[in-house]
Amino acid sequence: MEEKPLILMTYQLPEEWLGDTLDDYQLILAEGDQKGITANLRDHLSHAAGIFCLLDDPITADTLQDAPQLKVVSNMAVGVDNIDLETCTRLGIPVGHTPGVLTDGTADLTMALLLSVARQIPKASEDARQGRWANWNPTGWLGADFKNATVGIIGMGKIGFAVSQRLAGFGPRILFTSKHTKPEIAQALNAKQVDLEELLQKSDFICLHTALTAETTGMIDKSAFKIMKDTAVLINAARGAVVDTDALVEALTSGQIRAAGLDVTDPEPLPPEHPLFKLENCLITPHIGSATYQTRKSMAEIALQNLIAGIAEEPLPHCANPEVYSET
Ligand code: GLV
Repeated sequence: MEEKPLILMTYQLPEEWLGDTLDDYQLILAEGDQKGITANLRDHLSHAAGIFCLLDDPITADTLQDAPQLKVVSNMAVGVDNIDLETCTRLGIPVGHTPGVLTDGTADLTMALLLSVARQIPKASEDARQGRWANWNPTGWLGADFKNATVGIIGMGKIGFAVSQRLAGFGPRILFTSKHTKPEIAQALNAKQVDLEELLQKSDFICLHTALTAETTGMIDKSAFKIMKDTAVLINAARGAVVDTDALVEALTSGQIRAAGLDVTDPEPLPPEHPLFKLENCLITPHIGSATYQTRKSMAEIALQNLIAGIAEEPLPHCANPEVYSET
């Protein structure tokens, strides 16, 4: 009898989400609390047909080279910066990801961060809880307005677009940057495409929605903070490493910018003793952009579809390195 194809999974999905989808496969689950390919998974790499992983599981060239039968890596995330994409492509391994289904969830979370930071919700709430709500204070807990403000969106992909649509109801002017010229998007959003420098100089709120690549790593660095307004608010719901963390700590401490709202950090998770946690003008959530029940369930479904298609050597429904199909 033919052996069932072997899948290595770094995370056990709930039974309810898995159903009988993987009944025709052998599964080995990661053991221990390490991320990525744990020792027990490594022992089976040589005959693995598929890897199912999460965005904080490094899938390195070494791992890939030790898996000669690997037909697919399926990431339960839209971002694939945890995977050595170049090596996958060179080895002919398609990489699955989950675009689209997390656009609304992540855009909603971005709005939550924007509003919370702009109106100092965490501080106001904590002050109320701690008995510092003595009276209705005309000058207490003053925040920033969106009406007539300028919001800069860095990265006008699906999520940047969804955030801009949500913002339309709040009345700011919208600037954006993008790798490609996007006049139709500018028109649809009544927004203006500008270069990074102009966006950083003119924006009251700056939202990061770009993928982490060699070009975007450390894009928001010391020199970027220098040209921002000292009242600027930075929101990062993309990847932590788009921002130089030390430069951010310095900018928030010295008053170079007003505040930050971060759903992603570098490193991740951020250790509890990290200086960013000590700053009152920094709101941090633990990478929860896509964390709604329906969004995560949909991400799991797409990741499983990619996994199964890859093992069957069929085109992945959502492939992050489509050039793999044109390389010989
Ligand atoms: C979330 O950050 C994702 O890439 O899916």
